[in-house]
Amino acid sequence: MSSDSEKNKAIYTLPTREEKFELLARKNKEAEQGGGEARIKSQHEKGKLTARERIELLLDENSFEEIGKFVMHRAKDFGLDKQHYLGDGVVTGYGKIHGRPVYVFSQDFTVFGGSLSETHAEKIVKIMDLAMKNGIPVIGLNDSGGARIQEGVVSLAGYADIFYRNVRASGVIPQISAIMGPCAGGAVYSPAITDFIMMVENTSYMFVTGPNVVKTVTQEDVTAEELGGASTHSTKSGVTHFSCANEVECINNIKKLLSYIPQNCEELPPSVPYEVKSDETRKVLDEIVPDNPNQPYDIKEVIDGIVDENSFFEVHKNYAENIVVGFARLAGRSIGIVGNQPASLAGVLDINASQKAARFVRFCDSFNVPLLVLEDVPGFLPGTDQEWNAIITNGAKLLYAFSEATVPRVTVITRKAYGGAYDVMNSKHIGADFNFAWPTAEIAVMGAKGASEIIFRKEIAEAEDRDAKHQEKIDEYTAKFANPYRAAHRGYVDEVILPHNTRKKLINAFEMLQNKVDNLPRKKHGNIPL
Ligand code: HXC
Repeated sequence: MSSDSEKNKAIYTLPTREEKFELLARKNKEAEQGGGEARIKSQHEKGKLTARERIELLLDENSFEEIGKFVMHRAKDFGLDKQHYLGDGVVTGYGKIHGRPVYVFSQDFTVFGGSLSETHAEKIVKIMDLAMKNGIPVIGLNDSGGARIQEGVVSLAGYADIFYRNVRASGVIPQISAIMGPCAGGAVYSPAITDFIMMVENTSYMFVTGPNVVKTVTQEDVTAEELGGASTHSTKSGVTHFSCANEVECINNIKKLLSYIPQNCEELPPSVPYEVKSDETRKVLDEIVPDNPNQPYDIKEVIDGIVDENSFFEVHKNYAENIVVGFARLAGRSIGIVGNQPASLAGVLDINASQKAARFVRFCDSFNVPLLVLEDVPGFLPGTDQEWNAIITNGAKLLYAFSEATVPRVTVITRKAYGGAYDVMNSKHIGADFNFAWPTAEIAVMGAKGASEIIFRKEIAEAEDRDAKHQEKIDEYTAKFANPYRAAHRGYVDEVILPHNTRKKLINAFEMLQNKVDNLPRKKHGNIPL
């Protein structure tokens, strides 16, 4: 019989250095395989990339540094004690996009359906905390079956830990969510709190309760795609800001978006080199506003005419099309644009448009992106639908958002600026720095037809030819108010400019405003009407 010391020696033979290195290589390989070849194949067959392939596409070559690659769950119930995957269904770390650092987490659907366990959540929380301390954006690539069902409440706790950090990070560092697979139940609330959501068409969906629950509760038959696919959320609900044809487009959109925004709230947005030319006139702008004030035109033509070539990056393109929002560059500097769109509902402000624009304005203000407003608005949309769904509260959001914004703010009134909407759309009175108007501007309490019906009602009623009298009064009101000069006489409009000079004027204005300092009164936080 061998002695005890001989026995121990046999069991605990120490590996060589080479064997230790090999063990690490094996573990790295194992972690990189996620849920294994069969599940990776099935992921590809669904038209989806794997978590690691997505990261590779997103980040600059060889820039990814992984954190927590060997993390494993600690659960024991329902057979989990026998199922372990290194990394636990989420790849986390940091890297660079166009040379600028970002933190990223990418859920791995091949491991327990990307479901969120206690440890999976801890990995996300770890990079969020690092991102906050270092003032670096966080990008979340979501592809998950939700809470890890076998883990119960610890998984819910993990979600809450993430939500809490999403809120704390809001307005401090940009947070971008890409939905590249399922995102259901309470899991939707992390992306919902982040600044921008991108969804991939046909392979992603978001809903609080899925089609089966909907059927049970409301008897509605609806597919997952109809209920919460990219097209639904980019057109009907506005939950997603970008609907992307495929994952590559989605990832490219994330990179593009980041190119307009700073790393955190203390920094200015990046600018690209641009030498201002001696002649920055854009003749094309003179031709856009039609002679007939009731004829629509496309505000995006005005935007393209003003900003650096091909620099407009539209946000929320298919939602509330009566207002256009997005980023662009002016002489290389990043700006955020809010423009009424006369080509959709005559550019009227309604609930959805007000919310869409208010959220965009608040993002720009949080992250020091100067704001340009292009105004052609006939007023707020009338009707029971609007009133009963609180156009009052929702319209107030936009008014509030502009009024509290301390970034440089410039408005150009291209045509109509009527009623309360005149005040709301970044008027001088609510803190805009420079207000320009084109000679085609009409600044009044309301349109000439409605106005004359009210103030000349008696005269029109008593006239022999009522129609002729009404027309005469419309013409009189139009002659008096359908122009920018009354506002310019008062200084509400700083300058009436020819459209072709707009680009030059705006380049100068934003340059002059680049060191603007404006502080809100001391407060805990305001109480925006939600
Ligand atoms: C554990 C899960 C899981 C989950 C999927 N899987 N979701 N494991 N917890 N939540 C596992 C599956 O068992 C399967 O394992 C693998 O992931 C792939 O799932 P499939 O069903 O085969 O894939 P697919 O057909 O594409 O369907 C995807 C799916 C479906 C629609 C997401 O898996 C699904 O309905 N999952 C459950 C969704 C859910 O109800 N989650 C809880 C929501 S409540 P194998 O080993 O077979 O490959 C919630 C609360 C959060 O999230 C609250 C925060 C406040």
